[in-house]
Amino acid sequence: MSDTAFTPRVFSGIQPSGNLHLGNYLGALKRFVDWQGKGVETVYCMVDLHAITVWQNPADLRHSTRELCAGFIAAGLDPEKSILINQSQVPEHAQLAWIFNCVARMGWMQRMTQWKDKAGKNQQNASLGLFAYPALMAADILVYHATHVPVGEDQKQHLELTRDIAIKFNNDFGVDFFPVTEPVIEGAATRVMSLRDGSKKMSKSDVSDMSRINMTDDADTIAKKIRKAKTDPEALPSEAEGLEERPEARNLVEIYAALNEQSVDQVLADVGGKQFSEFKPMLAELAVEKLAPISSEMARLMNDTSEIDKILSRGAQRAREVTAPVLRKTYDIVGMVPPVET
Ligand code: AMP
Ligand code: TRP
Repeated sequence: MSDTAFTPRVFSGIQPSGNLHLGNYLGALKRFVDWQGKGVETVYCMVDLHAITVWQNPADLRHSTRELCAGFIAAGLDPEKSILINQSQVPEHAQLAWIFNCVARMGWMQRMTQWKDKAGKNQQNASLGLFAYPALMAADILVYHATHVPVGEDQKQHLELTRDIAIKFNNDFGVDFFPVTEPVIEGAATRVMSLRDGSKKMSKSDVSDMSRINMTDDADTIAKKIRKAKTDPEALPSEAEGLEERPEARNLVEIYAALNEQSVDQVLADVGGKQFSEFKPMLAELAVEKLAPISSEMARLMNDTSEIDKILSRGAQRAREVTAPVLRKTYDIVGMVPPVET
């Protein structure tokens, strides 16, 4: 089966579950912006249906969805160049997800590490939606026939499952309908770690706010969090191998490299031999320079949420021109009776 027959299209999503952070920015959002203007269609989604697989307070969810849209735009996504959508406003995502629930196997879902982490010890009490989460993610991607999906490292397994679903659907029905999607996991910071513990990824759900840099943090807060970030007592090495057993040091160097659009080797060529007392202020200055304009633009956009709502409505209209025919065709392949004019 060839996947070259499909026109390239980029799709990705972020959950509006609050606290958009530096990991989301470097692992995902900044990459989304890089794809814009490469001559491929780009679709970026606030995945509220995914967010509610764990409890969300309704008022907070609405706020976080709008704030995430503000974050997308402030980071450089242009609603004229990219289609920006809110998942629940494009019903074909959930409709295709149902079909995929019937294609995917229980065993595939059970192997997902995110399911195991999020459900924890009490799987019986987790929502059915949390278990089926990857089938909805596959639907998000495949309802656009998207070929490229920029994400952070933690989403790799879900994208492999998306490929498995596309392949099984095509095989089951003897068609070449869904493309086999390429994960795009690139850049110096595909896995940004907690500032307090170099063995844990930076996450929205970490109880310690000091563990992450939020996109809404002001300059003083960003500088304070970097100053207090956990490190070791050694000076920085001159080559990347010197970071191997030093997760906290590696994390800060990778953050610096990604923010400055350099490789880790280039950064170390400049800062190798320096103590953290010297490197941390450099990193803080760089982070403030890159992030403060984004957070102030987010705050400005949030002053007029009606404009954000219009952008999302327009995005949904444009998206449905793609998704409605793909869903209809899927239903035809599966054997559903088409509606007729009456
Ligand atoms: P989420 O916040 O879970 O919806 O994640 C949205 C995007 O950000 C996905 O592409 C993730 O892979 C990416 N992401 C989340 N946390 C990190 C992290 N600590 N480092 C790099 N990428 C991340
Ligand atoms: N599962 C992704 C995350 O938590 C978010 C997501 C949902 C997504 N649908 C997607 C990412 C489709 C890429 C493509 O990070």
